[in-house]
This record gives sequence, structure tokens and C-alpha cells, in this order.
Amino acid sequence: MELPFAESFKIKMVETIKRSTREEREQWLKEANYNLFSLKSDQVFIDLLTDSGTGAMSDKQWAAMMVGDESYAGARSYYNMKDALKNILGFDYFLPTHQGRAAENVLFSVLVKEGDIVPGNSHFDTTKGHIEFRKAKAIDCTIEEANHTELIHPFKGNLDLEKLEKVLSSHPKEKIPMIIVTVTCNTSGGQPVSMENMRGVRKLADKYGIKVCYDSARFAENAYFIKMREEGYQNKTIKEIVKEMYSYADMATMSSKKDAIVNMGGFIGMKSAELWQKASTYNIMFEGFLTYGGMSGRDMNALAQGLDEGTEFEYLETRIKQVEYLGEKLREYGVPFQQPVGGHAIFVDARKILGHVPKEEFQAQTLACELYLEAGIRGVEIGAILADRDPETRENRYPDLELVRLAIPRRTYTNNHMDVIAAAFKNVYERRNSIKHGYKIVEEAPIMRHFTVKLEKIED
Ligand code: F0G
Repeated sequence: MELPFAESFKIKMVETIKRSTREEREQWLKEANYNLFSLKSDQVFIDLLTDSGTGAMSDKQWAAMMVGDESYAGARSYYNMKDALKNILGFDYFLPTHQGRAAENVLFSVLVKEGDIVPGNSHFDTTKGHIEFRKAKAIDCTIEEANHTELIHPFKGNLDLEKLEKVLSSHPKEKIPMIIVTVTCNTSGGQPVSMENMRGVRKLADKYGIKVCYDSARFAENAYFIKMREEGYQNKTIKEIVKEMYSYADMATMSSKKDAIVNMGGFIGMKSAELWQKASTYNIMFEGFLTYGGMSGRDMNALAQGLDEGTEFEYLETRIKQVEYLGEKLREYGVPFQQPVGGHAIFVDARKILGHVPKEEFQAQTLACELYLEAGIRGVEIGAILADRDPETRENRYPDLELVRLAIPRRTYTNNHMDVIAAAFKNVYERRNSIKHGYKIVEEAPIMRHFTVKLEKIED
């Protein structure tokens, strides 16, 4: 008999989580103004809000924490992180930052000006926020296939190179500070970018004299998909694939809370000493001195170790097979989601389930609330609330997809939890036609409203 798959770790420390009753959840959700970000974590049984900073560190990472060097300048931990970045990603220069958006803030302070154009594959919301905050424009060049959830394509994170070239050729190069390639592409469903596509982007960037930046939060998961799906990479190690990926980039921003498996941290990786010099000033102003930039020494040590573990095949296989396991169950129950499953999450197609709820009443948010009410599971809306208003017209933007993201924290839940999530979704799916109305906004912030928005239930 062929042996079944099993995780490449065993568990050394556990944390208790609590179940609740439907009555309790109804009360809590109302008190949270139907915004899942406003719930207390103790009111959540299985938390799939994000895979960011919510993973379990390894014994080796905790050991590295104990020998962190907390010196203000020139800490050993800084040099450990520098070595890891050089060895794994190939960057000669780097700046530590407290998380990914801080890296964006520092780098874009150097590069992005009012009126600029920043093409890429579905920019993440903080990335877009930092571009739009500077009165520049993010242009989405993701391939059209990404907008069709049922369509199987191995690299739905790819950029449409024709679309990209049109953007590059129709604006002066001074107006395009960089092309951003997000690996994997969170917004389009944790979907990977192929090596061939990265090579294509590099070629266009060279032709038009433009820099390439990788938004690297889930770069290792991207490398795993290249190994599994792209011709010619089956026999390469993840670390070899990662090295090639980054040979096509000029710089990178990183949220280490994902693929470096730490609870907090980030960095900017750079190949240019001149850029490092310019970014250094902003790093000191916004983040901290050059050799810690918003991180403790122990955190830099854990990050260095996490980068190494996060780029090991066995770890990635365990991680992504769990996401696929949940995907299989949902498929069995007929729940529609972005196919094939992404690296870090399942993106359930809320429009296909609650298409009868008016889009102005926020279909994906409605579905996310129903899942919480059903079983205390917290997902997140990737739909019209997140898409926010157009910065110029202030009209609501309604994206092509209304999704509920179920992000799976790394090394945190077991497949029994996956079974509960799938069963809860099945129940919601089966009673979908009894859900007639969604929510209306009663209070919202001028930018990135989804974190703090207050909603009211629209009654029948
Ligand atoms: N880029 C991508 C692709 C991301 O997914 C995130 C964060 C960031 C940048 C910003 O990094 O949070 O460290 O400041 N994504 C989290 C999520 C929040 O839930 O997907 P950060």
C-alpha cells in the first residue's frame, strides 16, 4: 500500500482555542459593526483572517531568538539577516523594516512621485495605497484568465506582457519608476507567476529602461509552484529556483510575516548601492537605524532562520498540501472558488454563491459574515469594500471578482480544522438562497476603509 502524505513536523507547543454558540456570535458580530476586523480573537474559533504573522515558528527560530543581539548599531543579528538575504535572494544591499508596507513606504518615498504610473500584476492594497497616497497610479496588467475563477491556468498571477508593453510604450520612462511583480499574486488568489513570465517582464523592462521590483511576501510559495508546474524546474531545488527568480529583479519589498514565517518583520532588498543610499535616509526617519529598522535583534535572527526554512521543499509541500486538502473538500461540496488553489489561501467566489444579493450590499462581506455566524470561522472580504472608492471620482469601485479569502496560517491548524471549515462552508452554501440581503456602510475612512468600516445589516 502506498503510504499517505503526512506533515514534515511534529508539534511541541499548543494554544487553546474556544468554540462559541450562534447566539454569542450574533451578538459579537453586531457589536463589531459587521466588520470581522473588529472582533476579538477570543470570539473566533478558527482564524483565517490572514496568513500574515500568524504562523508557528520552529524550535530553531525560537532558539535563534534567544541569541539575538540587541545592539543598536551593527548587531550580529543584522549580519545574520544580511547573509540570509545574500545567500537566498542574492541581494547585496538591504534595509530592515518593521513589516511589508513599511518597506513600500521607504522605497516608494525614493521612487514614486505625483503623476507616476506603476504597472504590475494586481497590486496588494497597501502597495496600491502607497502609490495612490503619492498621487501616482497603479495599473493592473494581470492576465485576463485570472478573472475567471473556474478556469484552470497554472500561472494566474502572470502579467499580460502585451498589456504591459502598451503601458511602457505609451508613457515617458521618467513617469514609470518601476514595474511591480507580486509573487505569488495575493489579490488574484495567491496565484503564482511563471519563470518564463518573469523573464518576459525583465526583457521589457530592459527594452524600456525601467526597474523591476518584486513584492516578495510569498516568493517561496511561488517557487514551489514553478517546481511543480513549469517545464524544466522539476529537478531544481527551491533555493535554486528562488535564485533565478531574483536574478530578474532590481529590488524587492518583503513582508516577512508570510514566507519568512515570523510574526513581525520586513525588508527592502536592493542590487544598487545608490538606491540603498537614498532609501537609507527614509529608513532612518521612518523605521530606525540602518542595522535594525524597526526590528528587534531577536526578530532579525528568527527571520534569517525562517528564510532558510521557508525555502525548503518539505516545508512548502506540507504547507501547500494543506491548502489543497481544504480545496478538495470544498470542491466535493460544490463550493466555487478560484481554481487552481493558491499558495496561502482559498478564495471562494462569493458572486457565484450570493449573486442574488445586490452588489451594492457587498456580496463577499455578506458571505464572510455568514461563515462567521455558522461556525466562528473568520475569513476576509476581497471585494467591493476592499476595492474602496476611486481616488478621483470618489465613486465605489466594484471589482470583477467578489471573493472571500480563507487564508491558512503556516504550521498552525490541523486537517481536522480544515474539515470543520469545509463543512461550515457546505452549510452556508446550502442555505444560500435564504440569504437575501447584505450590508450598508455607515462609517468609513478616506483610505483603506476595510480595516475600520462600520456596517449595518439591511433587513428584508
Ligand atoms: N504585499 C503583499 C502581497 C501582501 O500580501 C501584504 C500583506 C503586503 C505586501 C504588506 O505587508 O502586512 O507586512 O505590511 N498582506 C497581508 C494579508 C496583510 O493578509 O494578505 P505587511
